[in-house]
Amino acid sequence: MKNLMRILITGVSGFVGHHFLQFLYNNRIDASVLGIDIRLPMYDVKKYKTRFELQLCQMDMLVQSEVAVAVENFQPEYVIHLASYSSVAYSWQYPEISFINNTNIFLNLVTAIRIHQPKCRVLSVGSSEEYGVVGEKDLPLTENASIEPNSPYAVARVSQEMLSKVYSNNYNMDIVMTRSFNHTGPWQDERFVIPGFIKRIKQIKNSGKCSGIIETGNINIVRDFIDVRDVVKAYFLLLKYGMSGEIYNVCTGKGIALYEVIQMIGLCLNVQVKTNENPAYIRPRDNAIVIGNNRKLLNRLEGKWQPEISLKKSIEDMLYCMKEK
Ligand SMILES: NC(=O)c1ccc[n+]([C@@H]2O[C@H](COP(=O)([O-])OP(=O)(O)OC[C@H]3O[C@@H](n4cnc5c(N)ncnc54)[C@H](O)[C@@H]3O)[C@@H](O)[C@H]2O)c1
Repeated sequence: MKNLMRILITGVSGFVGHHFLQFLYNNRIDASVLGIDIRLPMYDVKKYKTRFELQLCQMDMLVQSEVAVAVENFQPEYVIHLASYSSVAYSWQYPEISFINNTNIFLNLVTAIRIHQPKCRVLSVGSSEEYGVVGEKDLPLTENASIEPNSPYAVARVSQEMLSKVYSNNYNMDIVMTRSFNHTGPWQDERFVIPGFIKRIKQIKNSGKCSGIIETGNINIVRDFIDVRDVVKAYFLLLKYGMSGEIYNVCTGKGIALYEVIQMIGLCLNVQVKTNENPAYIRPRDNAIVIGNNRKLLNRLEGKWQPEISLKKSIEDMLYCMKEK
């Protein structure tokens, strides 16, 4: 009998959940997986079932009893918690729904684990949004930088992190935490910044022109974009080797301005892109620069991980996936 890793993935239907399954598939991980989400995946799950055991369960994790039954029946050894309302903008539009969802589904999950499978290891995925308003002197941000969350989404992420510490300190639960920086890569929704730029620059190309104008927000801001495939590899390794009770930045350590991203996409598509700043797209109090320091993660994973996929490669692969659709 094979020794299968029993992994529970919450938010399996989302962008990162899909890539986590793809990671298990590509790396031929002997796993038994339970994926839970409030909605069924839009992607085809058949191929994953050919390589590992995969059950999907549609549930609203706000219903504590359903989460409890899933944990009790499945008895996971590892849980990767990806479920959330992941949009900062949505948290401004619907602060109560977003905040209650993101905080309470985590509480329901850790409560179920505490009662039914207390030895299990949990990866609590957080966000660079927790750092919030960033002073330039703190860049690149280490895990010791101060936390100044600046949106309902970010406060919920900080709450999740603090609850993780409370449950690990008081109940001796095995929880590893991340603060993950902006991801990008194939299959990302066009609402996000890089696929959004790609879509609009492709429209110029598809109309037969070799130059055009796109409307943008502030494209001088600098962000630390990491390919989602590097992110899921880090998550898998943190599940195995992360230090319990510790927080890890998941990032590249390098920043790029949005105007440079636009130039990169233009070069890939052979389109000359001019930009027009539209005040409607400008966010109040947007940090000029957000770059993370990934030294703690690199040290912990001791040569097993480093960001490998360049932003140019992410963009090329996103273009390839869009062509396939
Ligand atoms: N994508 C990024 O750039 C990024 C960066 C930092 C952190 N994160 C965090 O990483 C995690 C995964 O991100 P993603 O991009 O895959 O997000 P996503 O929005 O694509 O996926 C999240 C999934 O959670 C599910 N979900 C939400 N509420 C639920 C509930 N009550 N019950 C069951 N399922 C529920 C959604 O249906 C969705 O499929 C999220 O927590 C996100 O906030 C993402």
